[in-house]
Amino acid sequence: MPEFDATFRDTLAELLVWRRDVRRFACGAVDPALVDRLVDAACRAPSVGYSQPWRFVLVDSPDARAAVRANFAECNGEALTAYAGERARLYAELKLAGLDEAPVQLAVFADTATASGNGLGRRTMPEMLHYSVVTAVHTLWLVARAWGIGVGWVSILDPARVQAALDVPPTWDLVAYLCIGYPDIQHAQPELARAGWEHADPEARRVLRR
Ligand SMILES: Cc1cc2nc3c(=O)[nH]c(=O)nc-3n(C[C@H](O)[C@H](O)[C@H](O)COP(=O)(O)O)c2cc1C
Repeated sequence: MPEFDATFRDTLAELLVWRRDVRRFACGAVDPALVDRLVDAACRAPSVGYSQPWRFVLVDSPDARAAVRANFAECNGEALTAYAGERARLYAELKLAGLDEAPVQLAVFADTATASGNGLGRRTMPEMLHYSVVTAVHTLWLVARAWGIGVGWVSILDPARVQAALDVPPTWDLVAYLCIGYPDIQHAQPELARAGWEHADPEARRVLRR
């Protein structure tokens, strides 16, 4: 096992600070070999019972991308109607996806029918399969950042329609639709914080003792 020294730890801390959800992408393709590398890294994530339930779909075809864009536009329009007044005005101004610009788009599913893992760790908490996929997404996100690549997670979608548009088995649940590419602008602060939508919540930092 290699030794992870203080310099590495400092750099890792910087990586976490600069990870960010990216929705504004510069033009410029991402080398497919690098995309493979990101998927390989994601597959090193932990998973309940070593179930490895993540399934990846690279969304390249214009038809599939158009279907996802239309899906997002509709869901985002509906989401806007849930807000009123100043909140609605602010919501309408947010950029909540880079679907028009991202050169790479990756849908990540949880295979709920997988036999891998033999059910270990899921009897009382079946949602652990989906959480395992989230760990893979986060692993990919961090490694992408280390390569100078930005990742934006899009969840303002009807998952059943994504499933149909991408023609995946009905047992694959959509966990994340990722926009991936070189960032246009880089910030250490979340975009939603900079836009005044939400601020760091001190409650989230609090650790209870029992
Ligand atoms: C499960 C999940 C779903 C998300 N879905 C969206 C989304 O649909 N649109 C969006 O703009 N950001 C989305 N995000 C990104 C969050 O807005 C972002 O993580 C948060 O504002 C904090 O910013 P940061 O990632 O730059 O720290 C999502 C993030 C997570 C973890």
